[in-house]
Amino acid sequence: MADASQGSDFVVVANRLPVDMETLPDGSTRWKRSPGGLVTALEPILRANKGAWVGWVGVSDVDVEPFVEDGLQLRPVTISEKEYTQYYEGFSNATLWPLYHDVIVKPEYDRDWWNAYVEVNRRFAEKTSEAAAQGATVWIQDYQLQLVPKMLRMLRPDLTIGFFLHIPFPPIELFMQMPWRTEIVEGLLGADLIGFHLSGGAQNFLYLARRLAGGTTSRGTVGVRSKLGVVQVGFRTVRVGAFPISIDSGDLDTKSRSKAVRDRAKQLRKDLGNPKRIMLGVDRLDYTKGIDVRLNAFRELLEEGRVDPAENVIVQLATPSRERVESYVAMRGEIEQQVGRINGEYGQVGHPVVHYLHRPIPRDDLLAYFVAADVMLVTPLRDGMNLVAKEYVACRSDLGGSLVLSEFTGAAAELRQAYLCNPHDLDSVKDAIIGALEQEPEAGKRHMRAMRRQVLAHDVDRWARSFLTALAAPAEGTNLTQR
Ligand code: ADP
Ligand code: G6P
Repeated sequence: MADASQGSDFVVVANRLPVDMETLPDGSTRWKRSPGGLVTALEPILRANKGAWVGWVGVSDVDVEPFVEDGLQLRPVTISEKEYTQYYEGFSNATLWPLYHDVIVKPEYDRDWWNAYVEVNRRFAEKTSEAAAQGATVWIQDYQLQLVPKMLRMLRPDLTIGFFLHIPFPPIELFMQMPWRTEIVEGLLGADLIGFHLSGGAQNFLYLARRLAGGTTSRGTVGVRSKLGVVQVGFRTVRVGAFPISIDSGDLDTKSRSKAVRDRAKQLRKDLGNPKRIMLGVDRLDYTKGIDVRLNAFRELLEEGRVDPAENVIVQLATPSRERVESYVAMRGEIEQQVGRINGEYGQVGHPVVHYLHRPIPRDDLLAYFVAADVMLVTPLRDGMNLVAKEYVACRSDLGGSLVLSEFTGAAAELRQAYLCNPHDLDSVKDAIIGALEQEPEAGKRHMRAMRRQVLAHDVDRWARSFLTALAAPAEGTNLTQR
């Protein structure tokens, strides 16, 4: 067992550290913010708790000693080039990611990838064991690390272990495709508390714990931040709950009111040629996000003359993501072709109708885009939560703007006043866009006020507190049924 005398009392474990190592053209390195919603959500929590973060630096084959960055204690895990291919691009992002997102793309099942996943999960468990003080609380994050709870419990039975899944937990019929389904369920059951965004995911997991791991489980519906489900695993009680994640809404609200952000938003509108309406998409370039869906809907609306290309533009900001994975390469090609086609047919010299940036945008600029956008387009085919929808709402203290939101996001359960649409039904997306473009200002304000109330009251701090409070509470093995 590791010497725990020097460790931290609170440890977050995630595939990525909150910063990625970047190599500059002159060969020097620097740290930049990591992509994705997980880091957006967890960074403020860890800063507030002064804990340690175990994760990978985002580049293969580099050994980095533990270091402190901007007040955060970071403990890097090394991943080799082969593991990058098999564990990260392979099992995490070509097996689990598509399987858990409704098999939008066909998942690949490869034994070598699985072996690499086991190996890297073991390394994370060992690093965490070294980082954690006696009796510490450890919070493991996301689909890349589903075996770590069990591995860590075997190394360190003294720890309190939580696990949170940031992506959807799939329907039972789809999960059953997974050749290593029992190992994954048993891996997760090493935690004391397993969190999902939605009650449905928690319920699917309870069923699988019963069926695949032979656990005795509770009856009844799992609530949101309440009424946890229970699995009895030998003498241990594992709890299962729904904890919808959120953002640092207060911070975004404050920053988006600043003069600098307001001025930048005005400048953006001017740079875009002062169109009547700006529509905005902000995503990692991922096939789950339905970027193609919104572009198709926009093209048909232009074709049908329901939207005037002289008055409306779309800005699509797309962060590069998983760029060597085949399905991502293919999707990028398709999206860039769509952008070219729409601009070819409807743009003017100096005035494209789709503005597409394939790069991460600095945070302050992003807020200005949110403030400038009349319609925010969030159209994933499946998304665990979607923080972008909440960020947009948090930035609209002026009560302006409107949100088009896919029913297939976790956020749709909370933001009921959005223009909800079914991304599989192009007419539904087109109608939602028209509804949002033509909304009456008074109705728009009412909708935005209601959504802001939800997002400002349920911020990321509340999410973390509700999970960590449940994790710290003693387990009660009540209301169990054996099936
Ligand atoms: P995911 O976690 O799948 O990437 P989320 O919507 O939950 O999706 O979170 C994405 C996070 O990344 C948000 O905080 C969002 O602001 C940020 N983000 C997405 N696209 C960009 C971009 N093009 N530039 C900068 N940040 C981005
Ligand atoms: C989503 C996942 C995260 C992941 C992020 C970025 O938010 O839930 O676990 O870190 O996407 O993806 P990447 O593969 O670049 O880490």
